[in-house]
Amino acid sequence: MMTLQSYKSHAESWEQRATIRSRPRRIVEDDGLHYYPLERQPLCAHPAIVDAGDAVRDFILLQSFYKYINDVIIFETEIVNATALKIARGRFAHDFPFACRHDAMSVVIDEDYHAYVAMDYLRQVEVHTGVAALAANHEIELSRAIPRALERVAPPYRDGMELLAVAISENTVTAEVAAFSRDTTLKRSVKGVMSDHLADEGRHSVFWINLVKLYWSEIDEAARSALGETLPVFLKEYLSAELQLAFDRRLIDALDLPAATRREIAGDMVGAYPITSQHPMIVNIRNFFKLSGLLDHAPTRAALASVL
Ligand SMILES: [Fe+2]
Ligand SMILES: [Fe+2]
Repeated sequence: MMTLQSYKSHAESWEQRATIRSRPRRIVEDDGLHYYPLERQPLCAHPAIVDAGDAVRDFILLQSFYKYINDVIIFETEIVNATALKIARGRFAHDFPFACRHDAMSVVIDEDYHAYVAMDYLRQVEVHTGVAALAANHEIELSRAIPRALERVAPPYRDGMELLAVAISENTVTAEVAAFSRDTTLKRSVKGVMSDHLADEGRHSVFWINLVKLYWSEIDEAARSALGETLPVFLKEYLSAELQLAFDRRLIDALDLPAATRREIAGDMVGAYPITSQHPMIVNIRNFFKLSGLLDHAPTRAALASVL
């Protein structure tokens, strides 16, 4: 069990390894590789898109990349940092020791820096390709999932719910960024941006898991039950494909294809985003619950059984 005494600050490794302290700027290059993994965009597998050729496919991958980058910026600045800053400044409804608050402050710096790098690289790519990003979503799944989960728990448990939601999503993002950084079909600079990001997110993953462990060990049974029972509400919203679908509709509309073909593709997209128990996000979320010890709590384990 994580206790106050066993929490170990990452301050020293942050000084040595934080990318803001150690990495040069990434510059987009001409290597003919993709901006986004083909298998992450089901549109690319549609027969009409396959027939349409490389230019249409590359446009879809590029726009999907822009969306991914924009989503990451929303995630870092509006979701993670809202919670991390609250913890760092001692405004969270649970008393964390200095080491935790200090580490939370380093997360705020890292995430703002990731957003800065993302804005820089996105602009470089727009200039390099001459293709501007389509209108971006103003929110991500978490922008809806977190407030909806918070509404469902009594006020004293809301900060705890927010902590669990951010810890789960930070772990998911780490796994995604890791997958990107290993993908051999991607441009070198895309992989570089992703592997820089991964270097920081590995540290964040451990931080959020340890914070949840500490928090969970210090709250009472009523709090654990209230949080465990609300997790499925959060997960259902978090895993919704609504925003992806809305974006893909705008993307299909922007394709250089006849209107009838675009209508046909749009009609086929419903149900193209299955989230099954084998889905990488689910595998990763299950892993988080194991590592953080939440599955050791029988009522929480029972509540999650329906989702995971
Ligand atoms: Fe980040
Ligand atoms: Fe992070």
